[in-house]
Amino acid sequence: MPIFFIFFLFILISSVHALSCNKLEHDSLLSFYKQISVPSPEIPLNWSSIDCCKWEGVTCNPESRVTHLSISGGEIANLDFSPLKKLEAIDFGNNSFVGNIPVSLCLCRSLIAVRLAYNQLTGEIPACMAGLKSFSHLSLSYNFLSNVVGAFRILIRCDHLSVLFLTGCFNDEPVPNDGHLLHLNGFQNLQILSLGECKLKGEVPSWIGKLKKLKVLNLSYNQITGTIPKWLGSMPSLFVLNITRNHLTGELPREIGNLNALVSDDADSNLSNLALPFLFYSLQYNRLFNLPKGIKVGNNGLSGNLPAELGNLRLLTELDLNDNYFNGSIPNELSRLVNLEKLDMSGNHLTGEIPESLKKLHFLSHFTVANNDLEGEIPKGGQFDTFTNTSFEGNPKLCGSVLQKNCPPASNGGEDEMLPPAPEEEESATSLYTIPFGLGYSVGFFVVVISLLFRSSLKCFN
Ligand SMILES: *[C@@H]1O[C@H](CO)[C@@H](O)[C@H](O)[C@H]1NC(C)=O
Ligand SMILES: *[C@@H]1O[C@H](CO)[C@@H](O)[C@H](O)[C@H]1NC(C)=O
Ligand SMILES: *[C@@H]1O[C@H](CO)[C@@H](O)[C@H](O)[C@H]1NC(C)=O
Ligand SMILES: *[C@@H]1O[C@H](CO)[C@@H](O)[C@H](O)[C@H]1NC(C)=O
Ligand SMILES: *[C@@H]1O[C@H](CO)[C@@H](O)[C@H](O)[C@H]1NC(C)=O
Ligand SMILES: *[C@@H]1O[C@H](CO)[C@@H](O)[C@H](O)[C@H]1NC(C)=O
Ligand SMILES: *[C@@H]1O[C@H](CO)[C@@H](O)[C@H](O)[C@H]1NC(C)=O
Repeated sequence: MPIFFIFFLFILISSVHALSCNKLEHDSLLSFYKQISVPSPEIPLNWSSIDCCKWEGVTCNPESRVTHLSISGGEIANLDFSPLKKLEAIDFGNNSFVGNIPVSLCLCRSLIAVRLAYNQLTGEIPACMAGLKSFSHLSLSYNFLSNVVGAFRILIRCDHLSVLFLTGCFNDEPVPNDGHLLHLNGFQNLQILSLGECKLKGEVPSWIGKLKKLKVLNLSYNQITGTIPKWLGSMPSLFVLNITRNHLTGELPREIGNLNALVSDDADSNLSNLALPFLFYSLQYNRLFNLPKGIKVGNNGLSGNLPAELGNLRLLTELDLNDNYFNGSIPNELSRLVNLEKLDMSGNHLTGEIPESLKKLHFLSHFTVANNDLEGEIPKGGQFDTFTNTSFEGNPKLCGSVLQKNCPPASNGGEDEMLPPAPEEEESATSLYTIPFGLGYSVGFFVVVISLLFRSSLKCFN
């Protein structure tokens, strides 16, 4: 069964308006086609006429510039990029290209963006890429490359690199963490670094702490050990920290509560300037990179109490603390996270009651504390009326109507004496809150739907 592999090729040569296909593009495409070693006989490419926009598998935009090519993948190393001197962007994502990244790519001195994600490329990132001085976007996610340390030593020379997606690209190697990276002042324009799903071993590398513009750090699904460094809290631009599913231990440092981009509206969390129009022009690019502001440390070996300082991160929309060994009580301060849409604290050893104050989180649409050691009555009202019993299961001492378990009146009275008096507004404001809750819920739901949309579009870029 032949598969049609789609790749987008943007050739940005001189911007003369042509009524039919540009001669240079025409010739480049032809030479490209000839260099693919195994043209599949099932694809009857029909590239004989002058106007390459009419060729089968070729799509042009209204200015007769080639925008899409639909041909089969093959041995990518056989492609000679050298005639395409003005090439600025290549998107060969999701093809079946095999082999090494061609060195001829480095001859395209104007290259700004390369996406070769979702292929079966092997070998290493060619050293000559260090010479691509305009280079700002690279996605090689989901290939079979090796030598991640070497890759970072090369890419650190690309001064303009701002987006680096290397998810699922390397396998079972040490985290790039050598003195070379720490002592060179590189990656100063890097804004997104995604290095998830590579089974990397070692500690969170300290050179990352020097990346003043880094906004998104994704180290999820690796085998990273050690503690969460305190310096992460001083990164000035960071607003997405994803270190889900690693082997991190120790406490969640209270310094995380200092993350400026999650505290202050002044911080620039707009990633839309990083989306180039050649990617997913069917989506609005200002949405493409509109990632939910999140801290995700789930599925690690973290322990100790949840720091109250998390409550400072008022711009946070997602907080995943699940499946660790956190103990102590749920900090009341979490109720200051008024933008929170998702809060997952399941699978820990949390004790005490669920703070009533969490009812203030009007946008919370996903909440779970399942499988802890919590006790007492589940708060009623607000978004809590929308959570089902699965949010609370696995806490034998919790009670409330959602669990169809009545709370013993005596235990409530006893506990209240131990607790500081609840803020007065809690009780008197109940009736005020009931109307906005419905609104909060629907707006919250809308936001979640939209952010799911963004996330799936981001997946495409990967
Ligand atoms: C190939 O292109 C020629 C000229 O444009 C056209 O006449 C012919 O029908 C095309 N054949 C196929 C199979 O598309
Ligand atoms: C790859 O392309 C196929 C067919 O065009 C599509 O069904 C699939 O969703 C794509 N996968 C990714 C990860 O883009
Ligand atoms: C982070 O990495 C995971 C895989 O570990 C991937 O599923 C996710 O899309 C990545 N997110 C970003 C923003 O790159
Ligand atoms: C974080 O990692 C999880 C697990 O790999 C993934 O599902 C999620 O999309 C990631 N989120 C971001 C914002 O990177
Ligand atoms: C983000 O920046 C782009 C241009 O870089 C601008 O058009 C857009 O309005 C900004 N979006 C927000 C939400 O600030
Ligand atoms: C939480 O666990 C730590 C050990 O990780 C222990 O020292 C501490 O006493 C525990 N605190 C509570 C409140 O259970
Ligand atoms: C949760 O609720 C569903 C129906 O709403 C019920 O069938 C199920 O038994 C409940 N589970 C628990 C653990 O209470």
